Amino acid sequence: MIPKTMKAVVLNNVTKASDITLTDFPVPKIKPGWVLVKIKAFGLNHSEQILRLSEIQANYIQKPIIPGIECVGEIVDASDSNFTIGQKVTALMEGMGRSFDGSYAEYALVPIQNVFAIHSELPWARLAAIPETYFTAWGSLFECLDLKPEDTLLIRGGTCALGYAAIQIAKSIGCKVIATTHKKEKLLFLHEADEAILDTGTLAGTRSNITKALELVGPKTLYDTLRCVEKGGIVCNTGILGGLYVLNNFDPIKFIPNGVYLSSFFSNYPTQETIDDIYFFLTEHKLTPYVGKIFSFSEITKACIAMDSGTVNGKIVVTVNESI
Ligand SMILES: NC(=O)c1ccc[n+]([C@@H]2O[C@H](COP(=O)([O-])OP(=O)(O)OC[C@H]3O[C@@H](n4cnc5c(N)ncnc54)[C@H](OP(=O)(O)O)[C@@H]3O)[C@@H](O)[C@H]2O)c1
Repeated sequence: MIPKTMKAVVLNNVTKASDITLTDFPVPKIKPGWVLVKIKAFGLNHSEQILRLSEIQANYIQKPIIPGIECVGEIVDASDSNFTIGQKVTALMEGMGRSFDGSYAEYALVPIQNVFAIHSELPWARLAAIPETYFTAWGSLFECLDLKPEDTLLIRGGTCALGYAAIQIAKSIGCKVIATTHKKEKLLFLHEADEAILDTGTLAGTRSNITKALELVGPKTLYDTLRCVEKGGIVCNTGILGGLYVLNNFDPIKFIPNGVYLSSFFSNYPTQETIDDIYFFLTEHKLTPYVGKIFSFSEITKACIAMDSGTVNGKIVVTVNESI
């Protein structure tokens, strides 16, 4: 039985983590082209923090909005789709938690094209660490950087969920990985990389033979990162941890060194094929998705405070009506 109301985080304005509360909200009504998912768990993302603290003011954000760009759960109403009731799925991106209500809730109504079947016996809390983080790591490393075992990969801004996933994937195919953090006390969290570096803002010229670079700090350090890779190397700008989102007065001739390639990844377009590839890869390489900390849904305030304070080392996962 699908209830009439559910618990959800509903935002209207800029909201500090400590002001997050669960409210009673109507369970969304099914409509053609959309499916209703009973959420079992969801991961928190840096982009949801940005939404909550500033982006919510933008006109393109639906208000009120239930945030949350990803979840895992089960189909409870398949509508006119080919999904079946009880089927295990993940839903992510393409406007989820921005232009339509997202995953900080017990149920989510999601367009069919945003929902993907998953085949895995991992517990819900582990599954929740995969969708956005591993999809983004996967796309950045393979689609954009064309990562190969012989590459030496620099990961700038390694101490985030995405950074840890990227280290795990790159190491598992045999790459040499150099990862950075901007906090000395976090160097030890990068122990899976071959080398951990404290990022003081200038890395160019300090290491040689870097063939690929995953830029997670973003435009703030991109100029320097482009100067870290050797000729023929590729830099993929995926993150914006540095808080600078765009480059003004961008002069490509002077900005991008001769013979270096600049790419970027946007996780807005997941496909069933890529989701299948990621699960296959994780199984084949016997990899367990990293989880920094698991909270229950009633602890959502604590989970968001942990996100804002950067105290959790890796992916924050929230379980909904599931024992942790
Ligand atoms: N392009 C895309 O489609 C896409 C998709 C997903 C994520 N992203 C981006 O990728 C980045 C990582 O996302 P995430 O969800 O994995 O992040 P996250 O796990 O929420 O990580 C946020 C943490 O990163 C740490 N961090 C590491 N280096 C930093 C630096 N130089 N400056 C500031 N903070 C730094 C911060 O902790 P400390 O300050 O304590 O180190 C912060 O708590 C974000 O910028 C996110 O927006 C992009």
